[in-house]
Amino acid sequence: MVNPISVGLLGLGTVGSGVVKIIENHQDQLIHQVGCPVTVKKILVRDIYKERDVKVDSSLLTTNVDEVINDPGIDVIIEVMGGVEETKQHLLRALQQGKHVVTANKDLMALYGSELLAAATENGCDLFYEASVAGGIPILRTLVDGLSSDRITKMMGIVNGTTNFILTKMCKYGSAYEEVLAEAQELGYAEADPSSDVEGLDAARKMAILARLGFSMNIDLEDVQVRGITDITEEDLNYGKRLGYTMKLIGIAHREGEKVEVSVQPTFLPDSHPLASVSDEYNAVYVYGEAVGETMFYGPGAGSLPTATAVVSDLVAVMKNMRLGVNGRSAVAPQYEKKLKAPAEIFSKYFLRIHVKDQVGAFAKITTLFSERGVSFEKILQLPLKENGLAEIVIVTHKASQKDYEDILQQLSDLEIVHNIKSWYRVEGDGK
Ligand SMILES: NC(=O)c1ccc[n+]([C@@H]2O[C@H](COP(=O)([O-])OP(=O)(O)OC[C@H]3O[C@@H](n4cnc5c(N)ncnc54)[C@H](OP(=O)(O)O)[C@@H]3O)[C@@H](O)[C@H]2O)c1
Repeated sequence: MVNPISVGLLGLGTVGSGVVKIIENHQDQLIHQVGCPVTVKKILVRDIYKERDVKVDSSLLTTNVDEVINDPGIDVIIEVMGGVEETKQHLLRALQQGKHVVTANKDLMALYGSELLAAATENGCDLFYEASVAGGIPILRTLVDGLSSDRITKMMGIVNGTTNFILTKMCKYGSAYEEVLAEAQELGYAEADPSSDVEGLDAARKMAILARLGFSMNIDLEDVQVRGITDITEEDLNYGKRLGYTMKLIGIAHREGEKVEVSVQPTFLPDSHPLASVSDEYNAVYVYGEAVGETMFYGPGAGSLPTATAVVSDLVAVMKNMRLGVNGRSAVAPQYEKKLKAPAEIFSKYFLRIHVKDQVGAFAKITTLFSERGVSFEKILQLPLKENGLAEIVIVTHKASQKDYEDILQQLSDLEIVHNIKSWYRVEGDGK
């Protein structure tokens, strides 16, 4: 039998336990694919006495990262500990010592992916990170391998399970945001501090990674426009329902010509759109390619075994490269210079809900503002409100530029007849 490949694991929590289980349970399959066994040689944890989901020999556990990274017998480091600055230093040291790296860490890859990939290439090492976006869905390898012959023009993703769980419950059962958030926390779908999920940052990190790969451009986290779900109300969702829309937190990466936009925001989708039926904690990424047309990838975005499947698949890719002697050649430098669209170049339909004084001519003043900028309406609802002689107007526009729309919002808020701009959202999903 050929010598085993030895793995050093940084972390033995939710994902780390799943990795150990898959390596143990699928050993025959791994040997068949890569021609040698895989052993976990050392595992970094914070607390070696903690009770764990998976049984491991206690002699494997250590709290000293050097015992993993400096072990000359370890070929591959699997990083499933989380964290950014310290973790980056650990991985850079591992790469400098010629160890291949597999990570599930989107925070790290969104912030320092380019630097780490450059260090990997410099040291002839592989660095794979499939699990960092949409957990168990093999979307990164699909972009770089399966769709490599195509030109991807747009990706729309539901890439955060927590917010999808919350919005599904709010849309389906009319539950209030706080109530569903508490339920998500109880079920373990949301962290005690949910801000990174509900404010859209987690999804933004994943969209930065997707856009970088899909468009072969150095997209940074700060290039992603981000808006979370905390302001969405029951009224918005009810109006959406009446108009045939479902609300989702959608990451959009769109390329037209040489320019791109990347954003994460609550978005109304037609009920018939495939992403509208992605419910609960599930994730999906909708990809448009010039040649392939529309494709969608759907599955569990998190969880111990689904995420570990992606991690161990990356490990298999490293081992296949080792067998062929081609490690360190997979990362391709971005092909295109980064060119971001200006707000005047980003077009979308918009949903707008406003409260206006219920008086003659009010609606005409509003329509004038839109028509002056060439923005027309696709759908309109107008209802009297019980309070204060106000009326509620809900408008869905045809496509308008973000710049025009923002200017209109500013002008509307200056109008004497406009009492309050209650909400506005992008409307997507017309298939282009
Ligand atoms: N959970 C998911 O479904 C999922 C999905 C996709 C990606 N990810 C990513 O995968 C990574 C791990 O997530 P997780 O959910 O498995 O986390 P987790 O359950 O909190 O586990 C983290 C593990 O790392 C260890 N650890 C953390 N900081 C450490 C330190 N400074 N020194 C030594 N050991 C340390 C912990 O040790 P102790 O056990 O001793 O505390 C624990 O075993 C994160 O980057 C996350 O974003 C997770």
